[in-house]
Amino acid sequence: MGSFDELEQIREQALADLMGASATPALEAWEDRYLGRRGEITLRARTVGQLPQEDRPAFGQRVNEIKRLLLQAYEARAEEISHAELESQLATEAIDVTLPGRPVIPGHLHLTTQALRELYAIFSKMGFEVYEAPDVELEAYNFDLLNIPEYHPARDMWDTFWVKETGEGPGDRRLLRTHTSPGQIRAMRERCPEPIRVILPGKCYRYEQITVRAEHQFYQLEGLAVGRGITMTDLIGTIAQFARMFYGPDRTVRVRGSYFPFTEPSIEVDTECILCGGKGCPVCKYTGWLEVAGAGMVHPVVLENGGYDPEAWSGFAFGFGVERPSMMKYNVQDIRWFYGNDLRFLRRF
Ligand code: FA5
Repeated sequence: MGSFDELEQIREQALADLMGASATPALEAWEDRYLGRRGEITLRARTVGQLPQEDRPAFGQRVNEIKRLLLQAYEARAEEISHAELESQLATEAIDVTLPGRPVIPGHLHLTTQALRELYAIFSKMGFEVYEAPDVELEAYNFDLLNIPEYHPARDMWDTFWVKETGEGPGDRRLLRTHTSPGQIRAMRERCPEPIRVILPGKCYRYEQITVRAEHQFYQLEGLAVGRGITMTDLIGTIAQFARMFYGPDRTVRVRGSYFPFTEPSIEVDTECILCGGKGCPVCKYTGWLEVAGAGMVHPVVLENGGYDPEAWSGFAFGFGVERPSMMKYNVQDIRWFYGNDLRFLRRF
C-alpha cells in the first residue's frame, strides 16, 4: 500500500504547490515538476511493474485519475493567473489618450514630376498636345532618320547605351534613346499629311560622365510644330513665351547659333545662372549661363523622312532638359540631387 499512499501524498503536495504558484514562470515550473516528461506523476506511473500483480490495475487507474485531476487544477490556476496578470498590466500601463499622436508625413510628387506637369500646362496653353514615344528605340529613329548616319561624327554628341540584341538590318539595332528627338519621326509618320503641334516628354539615357550639371539619365521635353509657313520667328516666340511662363517675367534667356544634324538653322537656349547670379560657378561652367535646350528649324531631310514635302511644309523643333530648367527655377545646386532620394531635398518641394 506504500505506493498508493505515496501517490496521495504527491497529489496533496501538488495541489498545495499549485495554489502557491502566483505567476506564469512558477506555474510552468510546477507543470514541469509534476506533469512533465520527468515529472513526479509520470515517474510514479512507471513503477507499476514493481507492484504485486493484483494491485497493478487499481494503481494504474489511480495514477490516471490523479493526472486528470492535476491537469484540470492546473488549467484553472493558469486561467486565474493570466487574468490577474492582465489586470495588473492594465492597472500599471495605463495609456494616456490625451498625448499628441505621431505626425504622419504625407508623400508628394517628385520635383521632376511637378516640373513636367507645369510644362504640360504651359505648352497646352500654346496649343501643343502630349505625344508619347518609347524609351527603347530603334537605331534608325534615334539616329539615321534624324540625318545622323552611321559613322557621322555627330553620333559622338550622344554616347549611347545599346540594348544587347541584334536587329535584323541596318538601323534595326535597339538602344536606350539618347534624346526625345526620335519621337519627331514617329509623330510625323503617324500624323502626315496633317499639321502637327506636339510635345514629347520622356527620359533619355547617355553613357556620360556624371557631374553637377549632367546625369546619365534625365528628362527632356521635345517640341515639334509642322505646318505651312512656319518660321524661325515662331520658334523664338514660343521659347520666349515658355521662358516668361516658366521662370516669370524677370529672367533673362538667350539663344545663340549652334549645330544639330536634324535642324537647319540650329540654336541653343541658355538661361542666366541664378545659382551664382552670373558671377560664375561649376553648374554654369563659370560662364554665367546654363544651356537648357537645343532647337531649330526641322531639316528638310527629316521632314522628308517623316513623310512631308519640304517644298510645301516647314517646322520647328526644340528639346528642353527638364532638370536643368528646374535647377534654374528652384535654385537647385546639383543635378544629382534629383535622383539621390535624399528626403531633405525631396521635402523642399
Ligand atoms: C539634344 O538632345 C537635341 N535632341 C535637342 C534638340 C531637339 C535640338 C530638337 C534641335 C531640335 P542636347 O544634347 O544639347 O540636344 O540636349 C538638350 C538638352 O537636354 C540640354 O540643353 C540639357 O538641358 C539637357 N541635357 C542634355 N544632356 C544632359 C545630361 N547629361 N544631364 C542633364 N540634362 C541634359
